[in-house]
Amino acid sequence: MIKIPHPIPYQGSKRNLAPLIGSQIPRGIDTWYEPFAGSAAMTLWAAHNGIAKHYIIGDILAPISDLWVAIIERPQETAYRYREIWNGQSSSDDGYYNRVRDRYNCNKHPVDLLYLIARCVKNAIRFSKGGSFSQSRDKRRLGMHPDRMERAIVCASMLLRDKVEVRQGDWMKTIHDAESSDFIYMDPPYAGTTLGRDKRYAEGLPPERLLDGLRELLNRGIPFALSYDGMTGEKTYGPPLPDSLGLTRLLLQAGRSSQATLSGRSERTLESLYLSPGIGEANEGFMSSAQPIQERLAI
Ligand SMILES: C[S@@+](CC[C@H](N)C(=O)[O-])C[C@H]1O[C@@H](n2cnc3c(N)ncnc32)[C@H](O)[C@@H]1O
Repeated sequence: MIKIPHPIPYQGSKRNLAPLIGSQIPRGIDTWYEPFAGSAAMTLWAAHNGIAKHYIIGDILAPISDLWVAIIERPQETAYRYREIWNGQSSSDDGYYNRVRDRYNCNKHPVDLLYLIARCVKNAIRFSKGGSFSQSRDKRRLGMHPDRMERAIVCASMLLRDKVEVRQGDWMKTIHDAESSDFIYMDPPYAGTTLGRDKRYAEGLPPERLLDGLRELLNRGIPFALSYDGMTGEKTYGPPLPDSLGLTRLLLQAGRSSQATLSGRSERTLESLYLSPGIGEANEGFMSSAQPIQERLAI
């Protein structure tokens, strides 16, 4: 089986869930949109499986969009620059990562961001209230090796080049021209990662803005799938979306909680996938036999 390349090691990437989410998505799409792209794991999956004619990705974080342009259009140059930055680190220079971080916060250079994502704690980007990248380096690892990064960048470029348009900005701007023959996959930050002092993403998305946007998509008749809330054991992440939207909610098994396993408990993490009307029904026969979907709630 050919491996799908993943050059951006983003915490929260849908890389592992992609085949399961993808099994719920219709084929024969004109344009596929991923307006909360991050590492664009679902678009890489979709392009690999050829499920649409064109692809549009976007993110509110401009250096992430710039990074995708660099990966797709200038793969060799991007891989070379990553190698240069990665090679610059040494065990005797504790301040190197912080200097790259300061430079990124000043210049917002996309390959500096790639190095920071690859090297920071849990590959988990964090931003201060003022919008500066604030996550610390992981002292136990060096970040993805440049040889592996080069392979991932070159393969991702081959997969996406001439098929993908990269946009930058708010999700509603990225999908402004979507039509009913298109499909939108959304993985927005949920309320739990939007509020607070150290935010997970540079921009959050208040639930009411998400709901307004979903209502607009429903009125425009554009099919979509949305990854949103979830739960681990008894703990839930965000309230479910309101019934009034008429969406189908699937609970996908996203793995086991390592924290709970450490404490001797076995807890599953379930993630919601909401499907717009029409998709859930079209997939009904398939879904009832699909594994490992644990529950299917029509809401
Ligand atoms: C949960 S992550 C998406 C991860 C992605 N599914 C992946 O596989 O890597 C959410 C992304 O949405 C972006 N974002 C946050 N608010 C946004 C907004 N209002 N419009 C567009 N993108 C936004 C963040 O910068 C972040 O990259």
